[in-house]
Amino acid sequence: MEIEGRTILITGANRGIGQALVTEALSRGVNRVYAGTRGPLAHPDGRVTPLTLDVTSAAQVQAAAASVGSLDVLINNAGIALYDDLSDRAVLEQHLAVNLFGTYGVTQAFLPLLTRSRGAIVNNVSTMALAPFPLTPAYAISKAAAFNLTQSLRALLAGRGVRVHAVLTGPTDTDMTRGFDIPKASPGSVARAIFDGVENEEEDIFPDAMSRSLTDSWRNGAVKAMERENAAFVPAEPSAA
Ligand SMILES: NC(=O)c1ccc[n+]([C@@H]2O[C@H](COP(=O)([O-])OP(=O)(O)OC[C@H]3O[C@@H](n4cnc5c(N)ncnc54)[C@H](OP(=O)(O)O)[C@@H]3O)[C@@H](O)[C@H]2O)c1
Repeated sequence: MEIEGRTILITGANRGIGQALVTEALSRGVNRVYAGTRGPLAHPDGRVTPLTLDVTSAAQVQAAAASVGSLDVLINNAGIALYDDLSDRAVLEQHLAVNLFGTYGVTQAFLPLLTRSRGAIVNNVSTMALAPFPLTPAYAISKAAAFNLTQSLRALLAGRGVRVHAVLTGPTDTDMTRGFDIPKASPGSVARAIFDGVENEEEDIFPDAMSRSLTDSWRNGAVKAMERENAAFVPAEPSAA
């Protein structure tokens, strides 16, 4: 899928990777970017349409879907990551509300438009979906669930022509990783790699040096093979009358 000329919605578009995705989308010649944000957003490029969108608010999600006429690519990027030790159920629920149910709710709301355009869904997950980091276990659980959601959606929507990508992002230099003294990719390089992956039709996108080290073993591994075998159980879509 070429990004040029497309209409794209990015959640969590005001800072970090989301902001970089907006910039990269514009530089690839998109027709329109809907920038989903919780607060007000002003952008100098006329192709950017701000959209009030707290992904945990069913009312805002519905209002946003009603205000968008057509959509080619949905990027579920909004996310939270808090330190915890799994002792407080509320912290786990908070992560699931944004990172899992936010992704789920926004996807369901925009699915009719994406089905019509035979478009794409891009879920910004994390390498922690595969291996948790024990200082943010609630975050890792929510990302593992969001990745599994992505895999099921991929199988369920293939017959409708909607591609579903997971981005297994590694450490990236944003507010989310402030205080972690580890090598980090720049948000701009991650955004470029995400759109490259969508254009190259990569199901699972590894957008930085750390995550890229997993690419071959993931793509050629037994778990990926099992995902494909399981996907074959989805009944074929009834052909249009
Ligand atoms: N940075 C990394 O190392 C890394 C690694 C793997 C995956 N990721 C994933 O990449 C995505 C972007 O992360 P980032 O690093 O750019 O983080 P960030 O700089 O902390 O930005 C998070 C974004 O999500 C938005 N957000 C949070 N809760 C929201 C809600 N309820 N509704 C709508 N928007 C909400 C924030 O909006 P506000 O400004 O309103 O808070 C902000 O725009 C996340 O899904 C994250 O899990 C990041």
